[in-house]
Amino acid sequence: MASCLQYFIVFAMATLVTIPSHAQLTPEFYDKVCPQALPIIESVVQRAIFRERRMGASLLRLHFHDCFVNGCDGSVLLDDTPNLTGEKSALPNIGSLRGLEVIDEIKAAVDKACKRPVVSCADILAIAARDSVSILGGSLYWYKVLLGRRDATTASKDAANSNLPPPFFTFSQLLSSFQSHGLDLKDLVALSGAHTIGFAQCSTFRNRIYNDTNIDPNFASSLQGTCPRSSGGDSNLAALDRATPSRFDTSFYSALLSKKGLLHSDQELFKGDGGESDNLVKLYSKNPFAFARDFKASMVKMGNMKTLTGSVGEIRNNCRRIN
Ligand code: HEM
Ligand SMILES: *[C@@H]1O[C@H](CO)[C@@H](O)[C@H](O)[C@H]1NC(C)=O
Ligand SMILES: *[C@@H]1O[C@H](CO)[C@@H](O)[C@H](O)[C@H]1NC(C)=O
Repeated sequence: MASCLQYFIVFAMATLVTIPSHAQLTPEFYDKVCPQALPIIESVVQRAIFRERRMGASLLRLHFHDCFVNGCDGSVLLDDTPNLTGEKSALPNIGSLRGLEVIDEIKAAVDKACKRPVVSCADILAIAARDSVSILGGSLYWYKVLLGRRDATTASKDAANSNLPPPFFTFSQLLSSFQSHGLDLKDLVALSGAHTIGFAQCSTFRNRIYNDTNIDPNFASSLQGTCPRSSGGDSNLAALDRATPSRFDTSFYSALLSKKGLLHSDQELFKGDGGESDNLVKLYSKNPFAFARDFKASMVKMGNMKTLTGSVGEIRNNCRRIN
């Protein structure tokens, strides 16, 4: 009987704390409910990056692919079921989304420490992205993550296909895509700096290294070995920032100045025409403080896109399925 009553009290408390009355994201959201949440997430991210440096990049990209598809609501994490087609099989995600097992590991660790599911999967993605950036880049790239997102009970493969920009986009297409999400030119240039870490598959840069003209010819030919022109090697990898592929820094921008951007879309940010985007690339290439300031501000802005708060949505028990 006693344990039954305890159960009821825990359940009643959980119900109370998971339905906050305010609907604004705040960095203190878990301070009272589960103060261990953020340190635990960081330690799991740290361990995952220690196992494989690239994982930091993969976790950062997950948050982006979550936010650009109907907002930062954890929808990217939902598996397909007979009733729900998830986003994982959409073109920008299939065969390239990574880090899903690390999110599962974080969710299990955090729910165990908090003794109940209070941390949303959408917040886990935002925190893991911030931790990845600061682990790979140092304290200059640390920022306070706003929290209190709740998880979606739906996903949209069509929205994932149409809302995530592909690597063959021109500058104006990239800008329109970002603007459709309430982001501006500076957000586009600063957030693209995420490509200072991680890797891309041959199929995403093949056309660039054989057909683009705005590319350093030696850089192009050095990639043609790993990425054959006509057949095979589609999933062969090249670093998005060859100089320091697992260091979060500004060398991605320096590469653009010498026409060594791996993706067509990356090089679109620096055309050498003296435009606004060119100027930001130049600034970031020589000023890590300016890049860090703008990147962090744009990450917070992206993390605020169409969030579910208050009593909308849910806190998932398992990031892969709705409750
Ligand atoms: C501006 C438009 C963008 C385009 C066209 C784009 C495109 C791509 C492509 C094609 C890949 C390689 C995927 C693969 O081959 O497996 C990639 C990787 C990556 N993207 Fe983007 N991206 C964009 C913006 C962003 C943003 C805003 C972020 C985060 C803030 C981001 C973070 C990453 C990271 C970290 C990787 C490496 C992932 C890994 O190694 O697992 N990207 N992106
Ligand atoms: C799918 O939806 C039906 C009807 O709403 C429900 O009975 C069934 O349990 C659902 N199946 C899954 C796998 O969620
Ligand atoms: C280069 O461009 C041509 C013409 O658009 C296209 O047919 C060809 O497939 C492209 N080559 C590569 C390797 O992408």
